[in-house]
Amino acid sequence: MGDGSEEDKMKTKGGLKCCKLRIIFLLLTTISFIGPAHGFALKTCRVSQNNAVCVKYKLKAVPHDIPSTVTGFDLSENRILRIQASDFRDLTLLTRLDLNRNRISQIDRGSFATLISLQKLNLNNNKLAKLEENVFDGLRSLVELRILSNHIQKVAPTSFRSLTNLKFLDLSHNKLNCLANVRLVLQHMPHLQELVLKNNNLATFQSWELTNSSLALGAIDLSQNPIAVFRMTKDIFPNLTRFNIGSSRKEPMRWDIGNHTFLSRVSKLDISGLQMVVGDMRTLLQRVNSSLISLRMNSMKHNLVQLINMSCTIPTMSSLTLRYNRLWYVSSDLFKLCINVTELDLSHNSIKTIYDNAFSSLRSLRILTLSHNRLPSVPAATRNLPALSELDLSTNNISALGCHDFANQTKLRQLSLYQNSIPALKDCLFQDLKQLQVLKLQNNHISKLNSAFKEHLHNLTRLNLNGNKLTAIKQGEFKGLQSLQNLSLHQNQIKELERDSFIGLANLTEMSLQSNALTKKTLDKNPFHNLTNLRRLDMEDNHIKYDFSTALPVPPFSELSRLEELSILTQRFRGKHMLPVNFLQGLTNLLLFKARNNQLVFLHRDTFSYTPKLQTLDISSNDISNFHPELFFPLRNLKSLYISRTSLHSLDGLINAKLTNLKFLQARNNLFSVVSKEVIEALPALVYLDLQGNSFTCDCDNAGFLCWAANDTRTQVYDAYNYLCNYPFTFKGKTLLHFDFRDCVLDTGFICFVSTTCMILCFMIASFTYHFMRWQLVYAYYIFLAWLHDTKYKNREAPHQYDAFISYNTHDEPWVIRELLPKLEGEQGWKLCLHHRDFEPGKPIIDNITDAIYGSRKTICVISRRYLESEWCSKEIQAASFRLFDEQKDVLILVFLEEIPRHLLSPYHRMRKLLKRQTYLSWPQAGEHAELFWEKLQQALKAKEEPSEDRFNLTLLETP
Ligand SMILES: *[C@@H]1O[C@H](CO)[C@@H](O)[C@H](O)[C@H]1NC(C)=O
Ligand SMILES: *[C@@H]1O[C@H](CO)[C@@H](O)[C@H](O)[C@H]1NC(C)=O
Ligand SMILES: *[C@@H]1O[C@H](CO)[C@@H](O)[C@H](O)[C@H]1NC(C)=O
Ligand SMILES: *[C@@H]1O[C@H](CO)[C@@H](O)[C@H](O)[C@H]1NC(C)=O
Repeated sequence: MGDGSEEDKMKTKGGLKCCKLRIIFLLLTTISFIGPAHGFALKTCRVSQNNAVCVKYKLKAVPHDIPSTVTGFDLSENRILRIQASDFRDLTLLTRLDLNRNRISQIDRGSFATLISLQKLNLNNNKLAKLEENVFDGLRSLVELRILSNHIQKVAPTSFRSLTNLKFLDLSHNKLNCLANVRLVLQHMPHLQELVLKNNNLATFQSWELTNSSLALGAIDLSQNPIAVFRMTKDIFPNLTRFNIGSSRKEPMRWDIGNHTFLSRVSKLDISGLQMVVGDMRTLLQRVNSSLISLRMNSMKHNLVQLINMSCTIPTMSSLTLRYNRLWYVSSDLFKLCINVTELDLSHNSIKTIYDNAFSSLRSLRILTLSHNRLPSVPAATRNLPALSELDLSTNNISALGCHDFANQTKLRQLSLYQNSIPALKDCLFQDLKQLQVLKLQNNHISKLNSAFKEHLHNLTRLNLNGNKLTAIKQGEFKGLQSLQNLSLHQNQIKELERDSFIGLANLTEMSLQSNALTKKTLDKNPFHNLTNLRRLDMEDNHIKYDFSTALPVPPFSELSRLEELSILTQRFRGKHMLPVNFLQGLTNLLLFKARNNQLVFLHRDTFSYTPKLQTLDISSNDISNFHPELFFPLRNLKSLYISRTSLHSLDGLINAKLTNLKFLQARNNLFSVVSKEVIEALPALVYLDLQGNSFTCDCDNAGFLCWAANDTRTQVYDAYNYLCNYPFTFKGKTLLHFDFRDCVLDTGFICFVSTTCMILCFMIASFTYHFMRWQLVYAYYIFLAWLHDTKYKNREAPHQYDAFISYNTHDEPWVIRELLPKLEGEQGWKLCLHHRDFEPGKPIIDNITDAIYGSRKTICVISRRYLESEWCSKEIQAASFRLFDEQKDVLILVFLEEIPRHLLSPYHRMRKLLKRQTYLSWPQAGEHAELFWEKLQQALKAKEEPSEDRFNLTLLETP
């Protein structure tokens, strides 16, 4: 990787600029409250559900751009040579790491030091020859370690030091040749349960070479080592239950097991290929005489009959596996002692003949496996086995079935006959199989069913008939299979279905009909109308072709309202296809629809109006080239959309498609070259975008997409680093993400200019407002406070304490005290509220004011220039006018102490508005007629509070 430093530099600069732009972009989007999806791109890998998947990318080193949130990391099948200390440094949440099939020959010290959560590590199939000191340091949580098929010969004493929690270790197919090395492995692992050392170079096994530190060890596999001597003088594996000591060595292995209690808990023993003198073999079997359940003796070279006879005397042994023993017949007495065996596996032999009474001793046999032999017919020996429930006759040469073949098999639950040469069935074949649940008949030559399923097999749940030569399913052919759930009919040549071909299959949930010869005509017969429980129907690769999009008289799936998955595909026909508009009618619960590779040229905009629950839509490999903007409208729940190879010239059709829940979009190999920002914004839920195989225009039209793709964390843009430029000519063959943004300064600079200008303007307006209008701001603040208080008092109808609250400025106090107070309180007898006299000391002034206003019937504002300058006074007007508006009460009386020029009133437009409509009096204008002034004031105080348009007018002066 990183071969061109020039390129890297270019990218970094581009990246920096991109980031600046992004900040602006983010600011802009935050301001405008758009929430677009964000993108990120990994140079090579794909992240799905917290797993980074980098399989088969020809990687030579561990990529470093993996998000640190991943918990799984699959790097298998690459060309990594070396693990470096920094490779996994940030991936502290990793629980699974897969390095299978690389070329790793070196792991640097501390490479895994930060992987404190790692539980499973796979280093299989690499080139490690030596495990260095401390290689696995830090892997405290590791439970499973696989290092098979390397070249490990030596293990350093501290290699496994940290692996104190390991439970499973597989070191098979290496070159360990010394048991002392195994001790080094084991001594740090008190919890190890399973150790696999298959196919190494261990030549001896002496218990004194190991310590007794593996008390927990339950399974050990020492098979395929050239062990010549197995000597156990100490009980080093007291809890061993599974023991594999098979061998491919030609000379007999010598045994020396001291105490008869050693190995006495082994229940599964595998001695495949092991050569031993009969005496040693007897010793071994004696050790396990009370614990053995399962014995595997594959590929034995000598003494097989003797071994079978010996082992069948062990009363607990119930499972016997005898594969690859080149048996060509089974005689009457081979299993005569095996009365306790319940499972017998004779597969992978060459059996042609089985004597009729060969299994007559096996009264308890439940599972009999005879696959991969050369049987020409169903052996009669299988018939009278009273307990048989599974019979496997697959991969033989059976070319005919007779009516007696399965007679009396009333307990049989599973029958496998696949991979034979059966040409046809008969109606009598399965009549005794009352309990049969699974019948596997695939890959034969069956061309006729001959009513075999018409009446029997009431309990069958799965029937495999795929890979045969069926051409038609006659009416009622499966009528007896009332419990059938799963029917495989794929890879036949079925062309003809009747209207009632599937009658009786009311419980069928899954049917595969792919790779047959179904046509439009077949579907016109409405053959699926009985399958009311069907959930999955696969009809890919048939001959279904429509050349019109008008409605069908009988939609083919109209009665499959439970169907959840439907796949159709027409690969074999060339030419222009369409889908009838009501093709999907009735599929109200459909979740997945696949119509790949149909050469569809057109989709009617109402095609999906019948499938409102659809979540996954795959219409890849068609020739649609553009979608009707309303095509996707009914698909509110769509989560995954596959539109690869659909000759799309633009993704802009998605802008108005309202796909707000879409998470996954794959649009590979199309013809668009620009991805507009609007498309991205129209898909707010997107987490995965795959545009592989499109050729992009490497100019500023894609700048927005590029920036988004390379940098964000939510949407993964799959393979973005490999998107190629096709235009302009100078960029041809270069990759899109390496395209330098500096050329876009004009465009992006303009965005930058506009947005920055906006922000500066906003800032300036705010500063100006504050500087020149801070009193208005304070005013606004008090309006708000007044409003708060206003709502607080709104519903309170307290009796008024005062007749009027007098709002005035201290400078006008002399007038209030000398003129107003004596007149109104003295002569006219009103009860007034004055702040210097009646405000409660200690109470917040704002509360005092509102209490005064709401506690008085009226508020008289004594207005002078100084009053207008005082913030409290205007506040009082505000509070009073709120009461006017909110209580619909006319409480405000304005008394002008001096002539106020209009321009001085202009900031108080609320007051001006009031002046246009409300009661006000002017003291200077009153002049000699002071009595009239007081009389008017008295009238105003007497007046009812209800505002009314035509109340008598007190106005003494024109509106200022
Ligand atoms: C292992 O054996 C030694 C003596 O042979 C004994 O002292 C030690 O306790 C044993 N360890 C365990 C874990 O049993
Ligand atoms: C196992 O034990 C039984 C008695 O319980 C004995 O008859 C049989 O021969 C023994 N088999 C072997 C292989 O030791
Ligand atoms: C089936 O069982 C009956 C009675 O157990 C027996 O008479 C008959 O011969 C058996 N059929 C076959 C084909 O073995
Ligand atoms: C479908 O299967 C259930 C049991 O799985 C059974 O009770 C029911 O009768 C079956 N339906 C039909 C139509 O046979």
